[in-house]
Amino acid sequence: MDMNTNTVYLNGEFMPMEQAKISPLDRGFLFGDGIYEVVPSYDGKLVGFALHMERMQKGLDTIGIKLSKTLDEWRELFDTLISENGSGNLGVYLHVSRGADTKRFHAYPDDVTPTVFAFAFEIAAATVADKKFVKKFKVTSTEDLRWKRCQIKSTSLLGNVMHFQQGIDAGVNEILLHNSDGHLTEAAACNVFIVKDGKVFTPPLDNQILAGVTRNMLLDILRNHSDIEVQEDSISMDQVRQADEVWLTSSSKEIAPVVELDGEPIGDGEVGAVWEFAQRLFSANKFFY
Ligand SMILES: Cc1ncc(COP(=O)(O)O)c(C=O)c1O
Repeated sequence: MDMNTNTVYLNGEFMPMEQAKISPLDRGFLFGDGIYEVVPSYDGKLVGFALHMERMQKGLDTIGIKLSKTLDEWRELFDTLISENGSGNLGVYLHVSRGADTKRFHAYPDDVTPTVFAFAFEIAAATVADKKFVKKFKVTSTEDLRWKRCQIKSTSLLGNVMHFQQGIDAGVNEILLHNSDGHLTEAAACNVFIVKDGKVFTPPLDNQILAGVTRNMLLDILRNHSDIEVQEDSISMDQVRQADEVWLTSSSKEIAPVVELDGEPIGDGEVGAVWEFAQRLFSANKFFY
C-alpha cells in the first residue's frame, strides 16, 4: 500500500485503509447492488465534479437507494480525502451500496442504511496534447454481451471485467464492443469516438452505453470552442474500421488515441491531428466543469 494514498472514507469517518471494514452481508458485496463514480483530481482541482455527482444521484434514484447529500457535502468529503492523501494526481473512487442487510434476499430491504465508501489512488499525470508523447492504444473488438442497462454506473461490473480481460488476453489495451446489429456501443471501460473527413462522431446516449462525463465534456467543448462538426449517431463497425481516427474517452484517460483495431491500422496507424487539436482544447477547458 502506498503510504501517500492510505486514508479512506467509510460511512462518515476518515480512517486508514486497513481499518475500513464492511459486513459480508453488504448488498454491494453479495449482489453488486450499488453505484460508483471515479473523479480525477490534479493538484487538488477536480474535473467534472458536479457532472459526476449529478450522474451518481441519477443512478441512486434509478435503483431506489435513498441517500441525500448536497453537492457541498460531497465536495467537502472529496476535498478532505484529497488533502489527506497528499493531493498530486489522484482519482477519487466513490461507491454507494444499498447497505448491509440481515439476510440474503433479492428484494430491496426497507430499512437499510447505504454504505458510502471512498478512496483516492494515484493516476497518471494529465494527458499532454502532443502526438509524440501520448500513449497509443491498440484494441480488439467483440459483440457486447453485457446487460441492457449500461446507462447505470453499476458496481456490478462482471460483464465489463470479462470483456476487458478478453482484450488483455488478446494482447491489447481495450476492447471495442458492438451490438448484435454490428453497431458500436462503447469499450469495456471507455466511451468511443471516431473521426472521418474532419467530422467527429460518437454513438448516441441510450441503454447500451454509459453517459460518460468525459464524453459529455468533450462534446460540449468541441461544440462551443471549435468549428468541428460533431454528431451523436449510430456507427457501424465498418465505419469504425474505415475511420481516420478512433478515440477512447474516460475520466482517467481523458482522450486516448487508438492506432490499431483487430491487428489493422486505424487510418495511417499514427496518432491523428484531430486528436491533438481536441485534446488540447479539452486540456484547456476541463477545469471549468
Ligand atoms: C463502461 C464505461 N463507459 C464509459 C466510461 C467513461 O466514463 P467517464 O468519462 O465518466 O469516466 C467508463 C468509465 O469508467 C466506463 O466504465
